Amino acid sequence: MEKFLIKGPSRIKGEVNISGSKNSALPILASTLLFDKKVTINNLPRVKDINTMLNLLKSLGSKIEISKNKKNVIISKTKKPKFFASYSLLKTMRAGILVLGPLVAKYQKSITSFPGGCVLNGNSGRPINFHLNALEKLGMNYQIKKGYIYANSKGKLKGKYIKFPKISVGATQHLLISSVLAKGITVLKNCAIEPEVKDLTNFLKTAGANIRWIGKRTCQITGVKSLKETKYSVMGDRIETGTFCVASVLTRGNLLIKGFNPNLIRTELNYLKKTGAKINTFRNQINIKGPVKIKHIKNIVTKEYPNFPTDLQAQFMVLMCKANGKSSITENIFQSRFMHVMELQRLGAKISIKNSKATIEGNTDFIGAEVMSSDLRASAALVLAAMVAKGESIISRVYHIDRGYENIEKKLKKIGVNIKRIS
Ligand code: EPZ
Repeated sequence: MEKFLIKGPSRIKGEVNISGSKNSALPILASTLLFDKKVTINNLPRVKDINTMLNLLKSLGSKIEISKNKKNVIISKTKKPKFFASYSLLKTMRAGILVLGPLVAKYQKSITSFPGGCVLNGNSGRPINFHLNALEKLGMNYQIKKGYIYANSKGKLKGKYIKFPKISVGATQHLLISSVLAKGITVLKNCAIEPEVKDLTNFLKTAGANIRWIGKRTCQITGVKSLKETKYSVMGDRIETGTFCVASVLTRGNLLIKGFNPNLIRTELNYLKKTGAKINTFRNQINIKGPVKIKHIKNIVTKEYPNFPTDLQAQFMVLMCKANGKSSITENIFQSRFMHVMELQRLGAKISIKNSKATIEGNTDFIGAEVMSSDLRASAALVLAAMVAKGESIISRVYHIDRGYENIEKKLKKIGVNIKRIS
């Protein structure tokens, strides 16, 4: 099993290029199951989850041609589509469930395993009831047997009015994809409006899908018969950008972040300004300089976009550990997304948790130690903490970080971090 060896403290300086967004690319790739024509997707991040999704598509009969640099892919249909999405492919990745809807929409049948993914919700797991209930409304029938969803529909799915009981990124994406070829009009209410949802909409529109946002969280999809050949470039990764912003502020760094539209992370940048960071934004670039003394933020609350994202909660917690006073972070999206806290405590953090609120003492002098990653963003937080810790840290289970950050150690090394992958 691979580990990271990090020798701190580091000071970040230089430029970093942001990779394509994992959470945008995954639903876009799943939606290619709807096509008869060729689809070209550019700017894919070279991360494990994307490989898993491409393998899943292959197992369902798609022909995949990947460019040498692995960032661009041409996907076309083989003559024999398959309908079985196996546990072995879905167990590591939640987004695998997104193949269920398009398979039923296109071929009226599918056997799809329940998905895995980061454990973020304690005993309640990560349910897919919003997905299944909404697909049922469109005409999908299903039965659950031995961890698989056996689904079918009599004829094409049919457009309906669907109001999600709670805002869900995955359910919104899944229903958007599944309605594109449905008969008639689908109206989705209480939708997630994360930039990754909008990127999926933009992609499907380039192929002739008839999707209109008719309210802030309301989307109307008029079914079309088929989708056209298309070419699309995935947006930059919002969470990778946010993580590098934190890295710069944390280390009194001076970083130029390239390849991401700063308007999409205004909330995060405003919080970072409160810590004393100096930020200049350009069309697709952010220059961010860390302050000598990081100011604390009283309370950060995670909530659906355009509010503060849960996927940056762990990274901001590290920043608050180094701030000049007490802060708190309230996690509203996933009940138990505080697995990083115990490991941060091993590095010297003083954090206490009550229900969904973490209180962070601040003024922490991190000292290098051996720690273990528990999920994707938690592992990014450990890397950040190790970067500012005195001495050597060893972070194990880095396969978590490889799921979502492209070449993290190469990118960090280039901007001044002493980091090495060891086995
Ligand atoms: C997406 O997960 C992201 N994953 C997550 O990123 C991200 O943390 C999350 O959205 C929130 O922004 C991908 O895009 C692949 P949700 P998703 O459905 O779609 C509850 C990362 O680190 N819920 O918006 O699974 C759920 O339990 C990952 O890159 C149900 O109850 O999240 C949660 O409390 C981790 N039933 C809330 O809704 C359902 O059927 C929001 O989850 C679906 C969700």
